[in-house]
Amino acid sequence: MLFNLRDYFFGTDTLINTHYGLTNRVYLNNAATPLVSKPVIQELYKILPIYSYGIESNALSEELALKYNQVRDIVMNFIGADSSLDTVIYTSNTTTAINLLSQAYYESDPNQIILTTKMEHMANYLPFREKMKTVLVNLTSEGNVDMNDYTAKLEEYSGKIKLVAVTGASNITGIIPPFYDMAKMAHNHGAKILVDAVQLVQHKAFSMKPHDDASHIDFVTFDGHKFYTGQSGGVLVGDKAFLNQYKPLLYGGSITEFVSSSQIIYKPSPGRYEPGYPDFLGIISLGTSIRFIQELGIKNIEEWEQGLYLYLIRRLSQIPNLILYGDVYSNPRTPFVSFNLRGLSYRTLAQWLGYSYGIDIASGLNGANIYVQDLLGLTDEQAFSLYKSGEGCGITRASIGLFNSYTDIDRLVDALFSISSQLR
Ligand SMILES: Cc1ncc(COP(=O)(O)O)c(C=O)c1O
Repeated sequence: MLFNLRDYFFGTDTLINTHYGLTNRVYLNNAATPLVSKPVIQELYKILPIYSYGIESNALSEELALKYNQVRDIVMNFIGADSSLDTVIYTSNTTTAINLLSQAYYESDPNQIILTTKMEHMANYLPFREKMKTVLVNLTSEGNVDMNDYTAKLEEYSGKIKLVAVTGASNITGIIPPFYDMAKMAHNHGAKILVDAVQLVQHKAFSMKPHDDASHIDFVTFDGHKFYTGQSGGVLVGDKAFLNQYKPLLYGGSITEFVSSSQIIYKPSPGRYEPGYPDFLGIISLGTSIRFIQELGIKNIEEWEQGLYLYLIRRLSQIPNLILYGDVYSNPRTPFVSFNLRGLSYRTLAQWLGYSYGIDIASGLNGANIYVQDLLGLTDEQAFSLYKSGEGCGITRASIGLFNSYTDIDRLVDALFSISSQLR
């Protein structure tokens, strides 16, 4: 059982000015970025007195560098990586991690095909699409990956696909695609798999599984700001032998073993991919946040959040003219739901909730342009003409974090009931 979770976070009792006066803000925008946990900032208070440039030439710098590097083990342990076969590369965020991997794949063979899905955030699509031929797997009417289409595309392009890139959980509907099955099938066709886990690992237990398991996940990425740190600092974890072969994504200091005007020897991974000044505070915060989540117990978090989510769905289903997107009962899932009110634009709805009721919620495409267009039933032409007209298209999204309460859910649903009644 989890108690008093709100007390562990900054911003859970923040007041906000609304059209009806001052009220407690309700924060339901956790898939964008959640509130910051107090253990993270308490750890920073301990670290700041030894903060320095961090090169190991004195005891305090060594201590700082050690704490920073220890986060690699914390991450490995958290997602079941294998320290002898995997590397943990620090990146500024998930977007950079996927750009790094896409660059390595491009360098390995610019003519290969990357298979990804229509569910993805653009961070797991554009870095591939802009470099290599990228094929998209279609979706089911419930908003999940269509495994028949996946099978057909793996077969159609067998031997040419070297990487399947799939989200660990949709940032729009929370739906979790069957990525272990996808991994097994990808491996049968000689491809590796990347799971973009930035919306998954803070909500549900996840493992890369051992390398000799058929459903092993080859690459994983996630980051700190979506993990209650409020800071940049993320990771790309995966196949060390593969990642040791390629050039850095960014060039600069600290990535080489030797440089002269006639020769460059890059460090092995992770060093070659970590140019410039290390993000000591962001990365140490990520490690602290992972430990905090592990102490609470990811299973307990999952149970708590799913309870809140099911209550939210039950109540949302009673609101007149509310449209829910994707299969809201799809299981497994993370606690996010996207909706619209018939007759009201997604933008106006979010602003109404924000300025009148103090509810912080997302609206728009939220980076998953193709998925949202698909959920709205729009063709590319229709989406483009809405874009040209300035109206655009989108959904409104409520995403639960572990500090949310049943009162937060009631506040959202009551506001939606009220808005819906004013539209009739
Ligand atoms: C599923 C998914 N992948 C990737 C990203 C990009 O993450 P970041 O902006 O932290 O790099 C997001 C951001 O919302 C996301 O939801």
